[in-house]
Amino acid sequence: MALAATLLLAGCAGNTVSSATASPHARPAALGTPVVEPDLVAWNIDVRGPDGQGLPPGSGNARTGKAVFDAQCASCHGAAAAGGPMFGTMVGGIGSFKTDKRLLTPGSMYPYAPALFDYIRRAMPLTAPQSLSNDETYAVTAYLLHLNGLVEQDAEMNANSLAAIRMPNRDGFIVNDRPDTSAVRCMQDCKPLRTSVAAP
Ligand code: HEC
Repeated sequence: MALAATLLLAGCAGNTVSSATASPHARPAALGTPVVEPDLVAWNIDVRGPDGQGLPPGSGNARTGKAVFDAQCASCHGAAAAGGPMFGTMVGGIGSFKTDKRLLTPGSMYPYAPALFDYIRRAMPLTAPQSLSNDETYAVTAYLLHLNGLVEQDAEMNANSLAAIRMPNRDGFIVNDRPDTSAVRCMQDCKPLRTSVAAP
């Protein structure tokens, strides 16, 4: 799971940077200006994989998701997510994850379905992340799961039903809790940070 999280975060970080103009930030980042809570709200949207904690209200199914996908995703991902000019197929490959011919798709790779929702909400469409409504995000997530044979076309995806899906690759990752480090973060009465840069 640690690997999955790292992979997904890496993807998100790249997209976030490249799409700064479409970000919901109230004001641009300014060096030296303290970050205040309202600036963080739009990014404080993480969803926990195993149980979906943090998934928002709303719902959608693959039928409505197809319409969202055709309008907002197919230009890069191809019709029926079979691969387009910007990305390869997002369908199939289930069971290939642990082979030397792995085909990485949400169906073959993601250990938890809520992670797919989280990724799409955070990062897609590439040119306008966070522009989909929650219902649209549930719907397009349902569509991708349906294309991978994991949910029926009319299955309503919401915070409960999405978290209840058992993804085929759920057990394909190993836990890496970094046993090689024993650093403990100080939370109170900490020594002041030593810094070589003089305060302005
Ligand atoms: C402008 C092109 C573009 C559009 C439009 C777009 N995507 Fe993407 N998408 C990409 C690219 C490029 C990546 C790979 C990003 C990366 O690896 O950092 C990606 C990655 C993804 C992934 C991750 C796939 C994986 O294997 O983990 C998902 C899921 C996804 N897109 C869904 C969507 C959905 C849903 C939409 C429409 C709402 C959409 N995308 C619209 C370009 C696009």
